[in-house]
Amino acid sequence: METQEITTAPAIIPRIGDKAPNFTSKTTKGDITLHDYAKDKWIVLFSHPADFTPVCTTEMSGFALRKDEFTAFNTELVGLSIDSIHAHLGWVNNVKEKTGVYFDFPIIADIDMKVSKLYGMLQPNESETAAVRAVFFIDPEKKIRLVMYYPLNVGRNMDEILRALEALQTSDKYDVAMPLDWKKGDKVIIPPPKNLDEMNQRLNDDTCERTDFYLCKKEL
Ligand code: BEZ
Repeated sequence: METQEITTAPAIIPRIGDKAPNFTSKTTKGDITLHDYAKDKWIVLFSHPADFTPVCTTEMSGFALRKDEFTAFNTELVGLSIDSIHAHLGWVNNVKEKTGVYFDFPIIADIDMKVSKLYGMLQPNESETAAVRAVFFIDPEKKIRLVMYYPLNVGRNMDEILRALEALQTSDKYDVAMPLDWKKGDKVIIPPPKNLDEMNQRLNDDTCERTDFYLCKKEL
């Protein structure tokens, strides 16, 4: 396979722990300003490359079909692509007519690429005109808590998006960490001791499942 030269310098992209960059944009549900939107709720902000394309249609339908699960996690969905409002409306209507699935959440019409550039969704060595498949998990304080980037040719996994959201919220609520493949009902990890006293205490703690002082699990 021929190797392609990478021509574009790495961009600065929003990172985990950063304040989510603010913006005001046109969406299929009217204008939204991120920092004023969905007060006291989580936001899953996600981009897709283009309206009227096959993988994107499956993904958007996936978000739409599982919107109630996001609502149950106190989470609002906000989609985005570098398309006009007219294209968004046409696509939403077309998918509804063809499949019965309705994209009942705001989709940003990022025709000037303002939000795509702000969130590192435009990755020019992948595409200079279409956003990659990004997902930003934004907490009620508008802090970025988890970021996913997928290329144009691979759709995301909705189970994993929901699992990661539940893991983040459970970690916050109980001050615990989540092990590999954690899902609701599994044991969680107790934060490791930070000094010798805590270490010795942990070594004598028979209430948790202990591998050693630094890896102890418990039921919630
Ligand atoms: C798609 O959603 O199918 C797609 C969009 C842009 C590039 C490649 C695939």
